[in-house]
Amino acid sequence: MCGIIGIIGAAPAVPKLVEGLKRLEYRGYDSAGIATLVTGRIERRRAEGKIVNLQAALDADPLRGITGIGHTRWATHGRPSEANAHPHANSMVAVVHNGIIENFQELKRALAAEGHAFESDTDTEVIVHLVTRYLNRGMAPSQAAARAIAELEGAFALAMIFAGHPELVIGARRGSPLAVGYGDGEMFLGSDALALAPLTQRICYLEDGDVVELTRDGATIRDKFGAVAARPIRETAAIGDAIGKGNFAHYMLKEIYEQPTVIGDTLASFINPATRAVALPDLPFDFADLPRLQMLACGTSWHAALIARYWFESLAHLPVDVDIGSEFRYRAPQLAKGGAALAISQSGETADTLAALRLARELDQATMAIVNVAESTMAREADGTLLTHAGPEVGVASTKAFTTQLTVLACLAIAAARARGTVDGEREAALSAAITEVPARAAEVLDHDSRLKGLAQEVANARHVLFLGRGTGYPVALEGALKLKEITYVPAEGFAAGEMKHGPIALIDEDIPIIVVAPYDALFDKTASNMQEVIARGGRVIFLSDAKGIERLGDLAAATVELPAVDPFVAPILYTIPVQLLAYHAAVIRGTDVDQPRNLAKSVTVE
Ligand code: G6P
Repeated sequence: MCGIIGIIGAAPAVPKLVEGLKRLEYRGYDSAGIATLVTGRIERRRAEGKIVNLQAALDADPLRGITGIGHTRWATHGRPSEANAHPHANSMVAVVHNGIIENFQELKRALAAEGHAFESDTDTEVIVHLVTRYLNRGMAPSQAAARAIAELEGAFALAMIFAGHPELVIGARRGSPLAVGYGDGEMFLGSDALALAPLTQRICYLEDGDVVELTRDGATIRDKFGAVAARPIRETAAIGDAIGKGNFAHYMLKEIYEQPTVIGDTLASFINPATRAVALPDLPFDFADLPRLQMLACGTSWHAALIARYWFESLAHLPVDVDIGSEFRYRAPQLAKGGAALAISQSGETADTLAALRLARELDQATMAIVNVAESTMAREADGTLLTHAGPEVGVASTKAFTTQLTVLACLAIAAARARGTVDGEREAALSAAITEVPARAAEVLDHDSRLKGLAQEVANARHVLFLGRGTGYPVALEGALKLKEITYVPAEGFAAGEMKHGPIALIDEDIPIIVVAPYDALFDKTASNMQEVIARGGRVIFLSDAKGIERLGDLAAATVELPAVDPFVAPILYTIPVQLLAYHAAVIRGTDVDQPRNLAKSVTVE
């Protein structure tokens, strides 16, 4: 997984390539590189680490040229290093690649036997040698590229430039996303619309199997059968300006603070302001007679699905399964006839979730996606889409995307309950009122920021941290642990509070902070008993609850944070905010890279 960009420009390409790469850095930041054509010859600069390092290499040794390609890498094959950084090139062709070439070992063996010498440990380099093999046989670049691409197995998006062909960039897409941007006397390729936003708003998305030949005047797209294909050109929204950090030290903190606003923006599209009732667009299935719902997601989005399962079951009496994309796709899932699959994904591009969604469709499920990116592959492929209105999320650790996913899922659960006749009008009104109040209550939760910053000290210095919860508090505990692991690298685990006694309680000692997620709900007494069990064994509890819960048990805890008293239905949305803030402040104390933690990427477009 990586970000790629290509330009046939009217002006020096490098500043635009670098700007595009910065916008793609969410896809990986292990290394970056650029290749251009300088008087017909391939020249390149590469650097290990983030794009600032590439920028420094370019400052030290500038690169000219108006045609070029660029890449920001999330390492799959070969460690992060300059030698493994893209573009991979020889004197004839330079290639950038997002994805995995699954048959690269066989290809490499065959090419090495023919005398091709390899310089990197990557799968990508075989493409360079394969194209070169066909160029050496006298084929023109587009023919050689098409021939090489036909031999590749796996998932990829590619861009290539050729020595002596300053007006040509070839792109290809199979699995990984790739968009063509149309400029005025300039043409562009990029992994997404965000990368191309400062260059053009006229974009077309390639379909799987497409190969595109860009010249200064336009693009010729061929489909997987080699036939010339027309792909619609869309005007995309100007998303160029929305990604500053403002006055915040990090994107993550800004995005945590945006939650009251973006939850409100999301509600605005699903709640009728006059009646205050949930009003959804047409769905590709009818909840009234839906036999079963299969939810599919990865990472933080999977936690949103886990919470929503409680809502669909308790409010709508709807049977629900929740799967991690990478597991679902390799099981033999037995799905209900007439059932539906719901993919949840911030990016709408996560390879495992996308593959799971495609499998569900093959298994005759109606498909729907909840995504934050309207033009993403999942949004385009699913039968129906519901958008979270979180705005661009830049911090790698997901925050506002998660709470807006929960907002959409809560509205969906209310709509399901109404359609299935499992709630009466009064309860439905109370649920809608509770969700409508979330933006205001979320703003109140943010008032606890400095208290949480104080508590973060203990968390930052811990060798291990536990998060406990029950019911919808359990996935919140999983999310709290994931946030902490992602950005502080402190080992952390989330457990169902009732499961502690079956093993994890052995971990407890006075040095392990235990964060207990305990709204005063129907399960409070059960959670309270589990908390007493850990306190009895010397555990130090940070207790997240409301006034009633703290009145009952606050004295036992080492520290308390009093959250607003709300309908338990919406508590998981609000209780997520303090665990986000705890992780954020602990990361700042530890001095880690909050927005771009090691080894991670925002959008994982490889399996
Ligand atoms: C990556 C990110 C996670 C995210 C997951 C799923 O692993 O680092 O923060 O939750 O992908 O991403 P999606 O875009 O599908 O929600």
